[in-house]
Amino acid sequence: MTTTRKSIHGVWSSRLAFVLAATGSAVGLGNIWKFPYIAGEHGGGAFVLVYLMCIAVIGIPIMMAEVMLGRRGRQSPINTMRSLAQEAGADPRWSWLGWAGVLAGFLILSYYSVIAGWALAYVFRAVSGAFTGATAEGIASIFERLTGDPERLMAWHTLFMIMTMIVVARGVRGGLEKAVRFLVPALFVLLLLLDGYAMASGAFDQGLQFLFNPDFSKIDANGVLIAMGHAFFTLSLGMGAIMVYGSYLPERASIARTSITIAVLDTIVALLAGMAIFPIVFVNGLEPGAGPGLIFQTLPIAFGHMTGGLVFGTLFFVLLVFAAWTSSISLIEPAVAWLVENRGMTRVNASVVAGIVTWLFGLLTVFSFNQWSEFHLLSFIPVFKTATVFDLLDYLTANIMLPLGGLCIAIFSVWVMRRDDSLQELDMGDGMAYRLWYALVRYVTPVAVIIVFLNVTGLVDFSRLLGMAG
Ligand code: TRP
Repeated sequence: MTTTRKSIHGVWSSRLAFVLAATGSAVGLGNIWKFPYIAGEHGGGAFVLVYLMCIAVIGIPIMMAEVMLGRRGRQSPINTMRSLAQEAGADPRWSWLGWAGVLAGFLILSYYSVIAGWALAYVFRAVSGAFTGATAEGIASIFERLTGDPERLMAWHTLFMIMTMIVVARGVRGGLEKAVRFLVPALFVLLLLLDGYAMASGAFDQGLQFLFNPDFSKIDANGVLIAMGHAFFTLSLGMGAIMVYGSYLPERASIARTSITIAVLDTIVALLAGMAIFPIVFVNGLEPGAGPGLIFQTLPIAFGHMTGGLVFGTLFFVLLVFAAWTSSISLIEPAVAWLVENRGMTRVNASVVAGIVTWLFGLLTVFSFNQWSEFHLLSFIPVFKTATVFDLLDYLTANIMLPLGGLCIAIFSVWVMRRDDSLQELDMGDGMAYRLWYALVRYVTPVAVIIVFLNVTGLVDFSRLLGMAG
């Protein structure tokens, strides 16, 4: 039996087109903005190691599962989950997983767009020469003037949302495929250039030490959860983005090879970004745990002092905007695909509706950096003592919703779906590779996610248990 479903939204022109689009979704602010700042906040090396392990044993298998479900279902995640549940004789309420994904996508895009707005603003700062010769304090004040002003943040957020909705409205083939082809290679080149600058800065070793020398006393249960959550976030997993992209994937394309390629590229970009940023942090006496402003307060120093920095700095922030752009469209695509399928909307109308809702939510993040910066909704919980609304949104989505979504995807793929069906859809033969995938998704992923959750709630203290065993 072969699958006969066809996507009403079209199909990628080739496997390469899918690889490019999925890589575009994966590589984004998560790699260049978020990874360095959370690694900095959680002590570096040990955090990075946990993150890399999560990419390998959770991220890649879950990515394969998500692409597989998408390609088999060929619809928006909501309808895909319902069809596949029926096919497996399971409860149609599995479609709720699709709903949770749509919600997560809205919430993530709402703050993602605000941060992407910072990158947009920085294109203009860079090209006007604002960074040239500036000191670390000068750069910090440029950042604070931007984030302290809700009107400016709102304007850039609005602009970025409009950019996103224009591409989404044009659809899979028309809009999504084009940009990534030159974007990822160009981003690589610029990051290498920044790494070259960092290498000459005098603190490159210190930066490498910080990133790659694990000191497990510096990471706690919450840090482990954040590292795991980030593995989902950076690969765009757990909310249906990769599922919906998979639904546009041509019949014969190796899901395993594709997933590994994407994960490797994504990881390289993150590590290159970290290797550029931390030497600059240390040589300027800055704080690795400075938070969400980290790259916006460090990289401009490099651009302000290198030859050609005006051009490279401008180019860098342009590329960062593009990277964010190709990610943001995947955050909203599940919702738009559903509105088209179930509400009979045109893609244009669906995009407008989804865009307006997301924009409104984004205001929560806009105010988190100024008016509400001292408002700590959950300050009675120790880990959220100084968390702003933005911090909470990020935590809820990346560290709770995505891993839970991933857990459900894992359970569905190997406990609910028939083995024959996943075997057929992954199309890699019943050999070692398939069995490894099956075992990872069946046991390792669910157990890992559950342990990390239990550990962070303090219900079970695994480090104590391990200590006692050892
Ligand atoms: N992976 C993107 C990044 O690293 C963000 C992103 C796009 C995402 N689509 C997603 C995160 C879906 C979670 C789920 O910037």
